[in-house]
Amino acid sequence: MLYILDTADLNSIKHCNEFYPLDGVTTNPSIIAKEKTDFWKLVKEIRNIIGEEKMLHVQTTQTVAEKIVEEAKLLKKELGENTFVKIPICEEGLKATTMLKKMGIGVTVTAIFTPAQALIAAKAGASFVAPYVNRLDNFLGDGTEVVSEIVGQLEIYNLDCKVLAASFKTAEQVHKCSSVGCHSVTVTEELLEMVISHPMTDVAIAGFERDWKSVYQDKTILDF
Ligand code: G3P
Repeated sequence: MLYILDTADLNSIKHCNEFYPLDGVTTNPSIIAKEKTDFWKLVKEIRNIIGEEKMLHVQTTQTVAEKIVEEAKLLKKELGENTFVKIPICEEGLKATTMLKKMGIGVTVTAIFTPAQALIAAKAGASFVAPYVNRLDNFLGDGTEVVSEIVGQLEIYNLDCKVLAASFKTAEQVHKCSSVGCHSVTVTEELLEMVISHPMTDVAIAGFERDWKSVYQDKTILDF
């Protein structure tokens, strides 16, 4: 499972990159716009925080294939090898995906709501397809079921593409996706905190501390 952080908030990226086994950062135009700052300064700072090894997914703002490719080449030149260009699923996007695949530039086809959209994006050469789990759940759909079907189709057709599930609001949604073999999830810091939390864990930790202190007071292993 790849864990990716879905934000352009630099403090959140710094924090999560330090404490969680993160594989990268995803952004989109809404996420970038939220920061109300210079685009290049922001994405280069994100790259600087996460380092060259981790993935950085940045979405194109173009709507015509040739222009998407031009933007993708610039993004890769400025942000390095492990940069993936996010393109929403549409005709121009598929054309651009095919062109970028030939150039060796990784594409994440995003705003996916059906397995059929994901399959054709993978066929065009997407490295990742990003279904929106919570938005599906909100509209009386089943986000996990869509993720599960996409995982199955990629396997059946032996396509070199991973599911990068996005748009999560609960830890349960994340868990359900991992249990159907989803390859990667992109989540907020709040979701990561939810994933590692459990009230009984807090009780267990408090018990360890209480029992230790009852015998050794404030000594730690380093003091013996
Ligand atoms: O990566 C896509 C994601 O940011 C969409 O999330 O919460 O706006 O549905 P949300």
